[in-house]
Amino acid sequence: MAQTLEAVTPLSTNKHLVRWVEKMAELMKPSAIHWVDGSEGEYQKLCDLMVAKGTFIRLNQQLWPGCFYARSDAGDVARVEDRTFICSLSKDMAGPTNNWVNPFEMRRTLKSLFRGCMRGRTMYVLPYSMGPVGSPMSQIGVELTDSPYVVVNMRIMARIGLPVFKEIDKDEKRVVPCVHSVGMPLGPGDKDVAWPCNQEKYIVHFPETREIWSYGSGYGGNALLGKKCFALRIASNIARDEGWMAEHMLILGVENPQGEKTYIAAAFPSACGKTNLAMLIPPPGFEGWKVWTVGDDIAWIKPDEKGELRAINPEAGFFGVAPGTSPKTNPNAIETLSRNTIFTNVALTPDGGVWWEGLTDQPPAECLDWQGNRWTPEIGKQAGKKAAHPNSRFTAPARQCPSIDPHWEDPEGVPISAFVFGGRRASGIPLVYQAFNWSAGVYVGATMGSETTAAAAGAVGKVRRDPMAMLPFCGYHMGEYFRHWLRMQRTLSVTPRIFHVNWFRKDENGEFLWPGFSQNMRVLKWITERTRSRAAGKETPIGWVPHYEDIDWQGMPFAREKFEQIQNVDRACWRSEVIGHEELFIDLHDHLPPEMIYERELLICRL
Ligand code: OXD
Ligand code: MN
Repeated sequence: MAQTLEAVTPLSTNKHLVRWVEKMAELMKPSAIHWVDGSEGEYQKLCDLMVAKGTFIRLNQQLWPGCFYARSDAGDVARVEDRTFICSLSKDMAGPTNNWVNPFEMRRTLKSLFRGCMRGRTMYVLPYSMGPVGSPMSQIGVELTDSPYVVVNMRIMARIGLPVFKEIDKDEKRVVPCVHSVGMPLGPGDKDVAWPCNQEKYIVHFPETREIWSYGSGYGGNALLGKKCFALRIASNIARDEGWMAEHMLILGVENPQGEKTYIAAAFPSACGKTNLAMLIPPPGFEGWKVWTVGDDIAWIKPDEKGELRAINPEAGFFGVAPGTSPKTNPNAIETLSRNTIFTNVALTPDGGVWWEGLTDQPPAECLDWQGNRWTPEIGKQAGKKAAHPNSRFTAPARQCPSIDPHWEDPEGVPISAFVFGGRRASGIPLVYQAFNWSAGVYVGATMGSETTAAAAGAVGKVRRDPMAMLPFCGYHMGEYFRHWLRMQRTLSVTPRIFHVNWFRKDENGEFLWPGFSQNMRVLKWITERTRSRAAGKETPIGWVPHYEDIDWQGMPFAREKFEQIQNVDRACWRSEVIGHEELFIDLHDHLPPEMIYERELLICRL
């Protein structure tokens, strides 16, 4: 299906694009070029091609219609934050939370890495729109990639193909050029592997020229460049310049029995339950309430002409963490991924299905683990090995989600009434509190801490400061990012309320104090009622908290003492928490907005 270099007919009439593709082909020397039209037929052919190459296994179509399974290389399983670079003109613009390399030096490095890197492979020209095609809030990119796995995943995660080329041909919007290679050229007679990649990895962003270059990885956020690289790192730069916000946030709508809908955007670090919260089904006791899903990972948020914030989900699919996802924890996700889904690094069952830890109470008697080795519960226990990699994923179309909001593709977005920040914290941080005002709320987001997860390579379970869950994703100086948040308020006629939640507080025996999942509806209800000035709360040194009576306990008895324990604000503990805040602030000091210092001082005084 791929055309030879000579015969290739571009699917775009845009001269800049065609010239750039030619130039890049000249550099990377692919054996063929394929302009991606985004059709169903093309998708099927690429899947067949990958089945033939061993990259994909077609799952049992009776059980998992339209689903495929892939195993990555064992060294290519997560985002590589230490190999992610922001190459702004000055180091100061990238700030201390990003890896910076001089852009001229990086361009030299990239040139030699990418020279001939696609030899023996097809280069796909993949146009994509982040956000609905034609929405004033959408942005366009073109990813050149030598990975068919990337093309088929991007077809689920973004809007791709002919309609996007049509937009590009209008030449009205800036197009973000993205170059991706797995970094494994094939010489004549070389045998390919199922998951080509390179030990050496580079995920590079040039914020001023709005370019992305990714080398050596075929996995998730390293390779699906519309997601973290564009929709967060590059988009955060565009958003700062244009007066909007690109955030690592889910978007959901809470509808009450009277039919009033309140939209919330919530930031949690990777693998901390954004997908579960976005797809929550209210528990018994909440008849007539409904939670609608707009997005589970990224929000682009812009003030409209009335000064109200409106948000779109720039993605079209979910790239969700599989382990822990089950009919009990997230029935909507299970329904969403039941068809037309790509699974990566989960376990393969003998009946041609998939399994991961937590999917069922009983593990399968036998399966193949994410590396293709025989796995039984016994072997797992003895070797301390999981069947699915902790960062194994499903790539599933958002439109298949039973709770997808009827407005999820509205070009103008949905109105945002509240922001919620949250982390994974075993101690000290209450279940929920509300910041006193916008700048106190920005301080809450800026000082967020969370235990690290398997979504990124590195240690798991260590508390790190992760401002607004954007530590790995903010494409410029974090201090300037806080300033941008503070400045945004001045453009608003209605200021959303800001909250902090922590579903993960534990008691002295290490047991979770809060059941979480659908029961988080109780907290969502208090939050939405607060935004409508209908729920009471009491003042504490860190913000407003609900009284026991302010939470709706229908359908779930929860002892008052336990609630006091989970809401407890211990002053001594918070004084050391504030010292933790300082860790990051010290690094950011020369760009830290004064409001952050005042908020810190106020908090210390109240403590
Ligand atoms: C993700 C992440 O994949 O945050 O969403 O790592
Ligand atoms: Mn994420």
